[in-house]
Amino acid sequence: MSTLDLVRALGHEELLAVHDRASGLRAFVAIHDTTLGPAVGGTRMRDYPSLDQAAADALRLSRAMTYKAAVAGVARGGGKAVIVGEPARDKTRELLAAYARLLDRLGGRFHSGPDMGFDLRDVAVVARLTRHMTHVPAGARLDVADLTAMGVLESIRTAARALGSDIAGLGVALQGLGQVGFRLARRLRDEGARLTVADVDAGRVERAAGELGAAVVAAEAIYDVEAAVFSPNAEGGILHGATIPRLRCRAVVGAANEQLAAPEDGDRLHEKGILYAPDYVVNAGGLLSLLYEIGEADEEGVVARVRGIGPRLGEIFDRARSEGIAPHRVADRVAEARLAAARAAHRPRGEEGYR
Ligand code: NAI
Repeated sequence: MSTLDLVRALGHEELLAVHDRASGLRAFVAIHDTTLGPAVGGTRMRDYPSLDQAAADALRLSRAMTYKAAVAGVARGGGKAVIVGEPARDKTRELLAAYARLLDRLGGRFHSGPDMGFDLRDVAVVARLTRHMTHVPAGARLDVADLTAMGVLESIRTAARALGSDIAGLGVALQGLGQVGFRLARRLRDEGARLTVADVDAGRVERAAGELGAAVVAAEAIYDVEAAVFSPNAEGGILHGATIPRLRCRAVVGAANEQLAAPEDGDRLHEKGILYAPDYVVNAGGLLSLLYEIGEADEEGVVARVRGIGPRLGEIFDRARSEGIAPHRVADRVAEARLAAARAAHRPRGEEGYR
């Protein structure tokens, strides 16, 4: 599908393509839906094989943000930025400054934060140049990645309960030991889970083995590990026809955005008897940290909201069970119902007769 067809198919409001010659910044900013409020979403930096793939990533991830905010009850819309380039090679000060100017030009229509390849240090640099980048004030105890990890942990607790188990002694196969994955691994270890980990970065794997006593497998072998929970915390699009038949877990619960290659893959998991925790429900912890920044909650309030992700996921599992459908379908319905209600409320009075 062409990029513009995808814009239409996913229902976006806007896709911005930027090329800043002086700094070499090449970026896409996708704004999916601002019915609930201005768009928010992380910034991802990756060396994409093509510009079309970069645009598609921004489009898919921004739609997931709309759904994430709707389900989490945050009055914000969905957006996402992707910067095309190899982080270690291309992330210069000039590039970050050009990116800050881009956020300024959007004038608050889009507010961003960290994601893969764009860590808290980069966030801090950009936040010095624009108001439209997440900025946790110095001295705050909140850390976006840790709040995300906390939400994943609570989701794993809910999934474990649904399987008649607990985190102590639970086998977890964890893919990706980055900002979120490592923090999650530490929390799981602290609660007595049995960890098997994989990452394409050998240094991170060594650290997890040394510091956390985790068992290690090669990156590609993580799908074959027998464990109650498979926790994807790296790339998206990893659950599909080639990986699902290999899974030997009873539940999939992780932070990675857009884990299902297609919605049908969620049905495939359901048919195989694997409980799939919808990614955008599980990984809303980072988004909830925004409530602190905009003064809608104090630190304790944000933590309480993040802990609430577990019970919210439990309700989705319950509804999926009683309706006999997969949990990701239930989550989509919850999000779409909230968006439809907000759209109906926004329609100006006296204009009901028009299409
Ligand atoms: P990160 O870039 O810090 O970590 C990703 C890790 O995955 C790295 O260690 C990388 O080496 C590893 N990795 C990449 N490909 C892999 C593969 N094929 N097999 C095994 N390991 C692989 O990224 P971060 O921020 O931890 O994000 C992880 C996921 O969680 C992403 O999908 C992101 O969109 C999502 N997420 C992150 C949030 C945050 O607060 N950072 C919030 C919500 C979602």
